[in-house]
Amino acid sequence: MSLSSRAAASLARQATRQHASTVRCASATMQKRNLGDASTSHANFTSPFTRGTSGQQDTTVIPSFKGYKSGSETGNKVFSYFMVGAFGGLSAMGAKDTVQNFLVNMSASADVLAQAKVEVDLATIPEGKNVIIKWRGKPVFIRHRTAEEIKEAESANWQSLRDPQKDEDRVKKPEWLIMLGVCTHLGCVPIGEAGDFGGWFCPCHGSHYDISGRIRKGPAPLNLEIPEYDFPEETSLVIG
Ligand code: FES
Repeated sequence: MSLSSRAAASLARQATRQHASTVRCASATMQKRNLGDASTSHANFTSPFTRGTSGQQDTTVIPSFKGYKSGSETGNKVFSYFMVGAFGGLSAMGAKDTVQNFLVNMSASADVLAQAKVEVDLATIPEGKNVIIKWRGKPVFIRHRTAEEIKEAESANWQSLRDPQKDEDRVKKPEWLIMLGVCTHLGCVPIGEAGDFGGWFCPCHGSHYDISGRIRKGPAPLNLEIPEYDFPEETSLVIG
């Protein structure tokens, strides 16, 4: 080997040693830095479940939730009241709509309401005559009473009757007697201008009603029922 070749090999070995030394130093520095960071973070961390000096786990240490707490108690109350009020209002509106829709569905339709009232022209009923009309599926007796009939009805000893009632409590105008034509015994339709008292007679079981529709004889327990009615005009009658 020549002199120049030996010198070159020696320089190459020296350069390799210096590089390895530099790498070792850098590695050691990084390890020290990492160890330093780890020890610092470990020093800052406080476990809520630290063990006591006796080696027992300390269960009395409660984790802190301060980070989750709201800063203002008033703000929490305002928010709670707002939510309760808003949802309460919405619920009340929903309940009101539900009830309203239910009631609207349950109410009578227009055709049913039209049948609820019946108007009668009284000018077409002569004195001393009966007229029977149909109202809500039931017969209604309309009697244009004479002066004698009114006198007879008013003079009766009503206190002694089975269903005591004054004649004036059964009519709005003495000359017009309006009653349901349904016997109060078992629901037959009595016959007008018949019976022992000049009023109505029920042939089913023999009940006699007087000229005021009061039960006078037979098994019927009550007087003939008076429906709701009114006289909107002098010669007009509205039943219902
Ligand atoms: S139903 Fe009229 S008397 Fe019996």
